[in-house]
Amino acid sequence: MKIIEVKDYNEMSKKAAEYMLNKIKSSTQLNLGLATGGTPKGVYEELIADYRLHQTSYTHVKTFNLDEYIGLKKDDSNSYFHYMNEHLFKHIDISLDQTHIPLGTNENTQAECEEYENKIINAGGIDLQILGIGANGHIGFNEPGTSFQSRTHVVDLAASTREANARFFDRLEDVPKQAITMGIQTIFQSREILLLASGKAKQQAMAELFRGEVTESFPASILNQHPHTIVIADEEALQGVKKTTNSI
Ligand code: PGA
Repeated sequence: MKIIEVKDYNEMSKKAAEYMLNKIKSSTQLNLGLATGGTPKGVYEELIADYRLHQTSYTHVKTFNLDEYIGLKKDDSNSYFHYMNEHLFKHIDISLDQTHIPLGTNENTQAECEEYENKIINAGGIDLQILGIGANGHIGFNEPGTSFQSRTHVVDLAASTREANARFFDRLEDVPKQAITMGIQTIFQSREILLLASGKAKQQAMAELFRGEVTESFPASILNQHPHTIVIADEEALQGVKKTTNSI
């Protein structure tokens, strides 16, 4: 893993957007893995600002989101489908049929998971995956203890994850208890990964990640074995990390 240390959330967002835009502009076909949550919002704002200024085209881009809550309809303001439309898709020239998010309302969740995994494989895999990280080390919604071999699957959300995400809902009870997420193996097979972290809430997770032990009890730790992962994190998030020669 390579670390790029930046000053703050704004700089993290700018650096990540710059990296993505270079890929988008230099490829004729690109499969982007996208994330939701607080972390990538600023990156999407940067992409939208760039689109307004330079009309960078996304017609050759396919997107695959990491996860979706089970039980929320697409038009629910807390669904990740809604999040992606509001925070990115409706502002750029990507056609919605090139965007993919697991469907949280499919009653046959198992079939939904298999179909989603196949869509990724049939598209040729993910070229660049954007990731946030949970305070407990989750990536996507893969909570501690998830097999490193996992593919897209249904998860029971950890209490700490539901509490962390309750800020987006009216009440904690409204946060769904389950989600569909790309598996750890699905994520690991992305050709490149950009993991973003900002702020104090991510300090412990960053310290644990860079301790270097690879263990299923800390899902993101598998990234220590990934050949092309870049971590873009701000000073606050990296406060507990011992700087090595890998840092820039
Ligand atoms: P956040 O979530 O970006 O809202 O902090 C990250 C995650 O849980 O993966």
